[in-house]
Amino acid sequence: MTAVRPDIAPKQAPEATRFPTGFVWGAATAAYQVEGAAAEDGRTPSIWDTFSHTPGKVHNGDTGDIAADHYHRFRDDVALMKQLGLKAYRFSISWSRVQPTGRGPAVERGLDFYRKLVDELLEAGIAPVATLYHWDLPQELEDAGGWPQRVTAERFADYAAIMAGALGDRVATWTTFNEPWCSAFLGYGSGVHAPGRTEPASALRAAHHLNLAHGRAIEVLRGQLPAAAQTSVTLNLHQVRPLTASAADADAARRIDAVGNRIFTGPMLKGAYPEDLLADTAHLVDWPTLVQDGDLAAISRPVDVLGVNYYTPTLVSTPAEGAGSTRNDGHGASDYSPWPGSEHVAFHLAEGKERTAMNWAIDPDGLYNLLLDVTREHPGVPLMVTENGAAFDDYVSPEGRVEDPERIAYLHGHLDAVQRAVADGADVRGYFLWSLMDNFEWAYGYSKRFGTVYVDYASQRRIPKASAHWYADVIRRHALPSAGLS
Ligand code: FCB
Repeated sequence: MTAVRPDIAPKQAPEATRFPTGFVWGAATAAYQVEGAAAEDGRTPSIWDTFSHTPGKVHNGDTGDIAADHYHRFRDDVALMKQLGLKAYRFSISWSRVQPTGRGPAVERGLDFYRKLVDELLEAGIAPVATLYHWDLPQELEDAGGWPQRVTAERFADYAAIMAGALGDRVATWTTFNEPWCSAFLGYGSGVHAPGRTEPASALRAAHHLNLAHGRAIEVLRGQLPAAAQTSVTLNLHQVRPLTASAADADAARRIDAVGNRIFTGPMLKGAYPEDLLADTAHLVDWPTLVQDGDLAAISRPVDVLGVNYYTPTLVSTPAEGAGSTRNDGHGASDYSPWPGSEHVAFHLAEGKERTAMNWAIDPDGLYNLLLDVTREHPGVPLMVTENGAAFDDYVSPEGRVEDPERIAYLHGHLDAVQRAVADGADVRGYFLWSLMDNFEWAYGYSKRFGTVYVDYASQRRIPKASAHWYADVIRRHALPSAGLS
């Protein structure tokens, strides 16, 4: 482990550009992306193990079998987090590690890993933020039909009860799902994520059952956790913009907002699915049969915080009759659309913007607008940026350093956007950088590096990148450095 560079003399930021008192500085990872130890201590395959081991599904045939070996190196990783001054660590729990078949009793060895991780964090003064589900459904539950089946939501509630029982005394912040949109629409729609199914109707059914599972889990968590515990869900809300001012492009934006965002925020935060979504997708699912009595009341149980993940905006249009639509929506190439009912919508890359290694446009104003849009649409709901960051083609210099000025610029721009949104009325409680360290980037395997800490996969050596030192400095100051200091 490389030591963090000494502090630069702290400088007070002017009042207007300060982050709120108590603003939480964190970093995030997810179980399948970092843990490895895929077949240890009773863990069985999840849909991501099956998918990554299926030829042609993941770049270079990469798998999460070893990943960043966090399962064995978590103590060193927590020590590194402490050196960086992190106040919180957002991680996810591998369902098939703690309840291998997705039903029945828990496996103590699996639970022990998370107990030890959490204890290590608390000892280091770092708040654990636990996500129950970051895309890794136990394979047995997929074999029984997966998220398109209603019973999967009940299985999830049982799993939530196991985890609340095991960690409820020491984890104060809980998140049910990470980006259910990806689970439903990339997993069952375009098929670029596990389980790789390409069934538009199943994708919509999955979305409803993920919503239901969220609501059921919130009920369980509320019933079992101490009153002071915070519950939340994390959504990748698409910051949708029409390409032109035309009515056709406005309709494209409305549609993608419906099936990308309001399909979750509607039932969760307003207790109803949006009428336009139901109309756009009525030919695919029979919503009155899918949504049963009591479902919406369950799904709309209040959360204490809404987690928002943001990377880049989504620019859309309705192509002229006969023109083919482009699938370049930033979520991976597929012949199948992840936008059921709105397959004709075309996606565009904003002109004149710098891009990350994912070819995503860098646009901090998108985060500013997103935070204010959510604030306007759902007043009174506290927000947390649970993921934000960028992949670049990082490498280790002959001197053993990783210089990533583009990532520093990205983070600076987006943290400045958070600050501006706060100044303009958004109640943002914290920021989690994606990611603490380089990891298995889903269908892109290890080819994309999002970490603020570099991982040399051959040796598993960690090297904090320049951005890690920069972020540590921001945390110490509780403010962005003024120009020239970064
Ligand atoms: C988000 C995922 C996270 C990571 C980043 C880059 O959609 O939640 O696991 O892959 O994108």
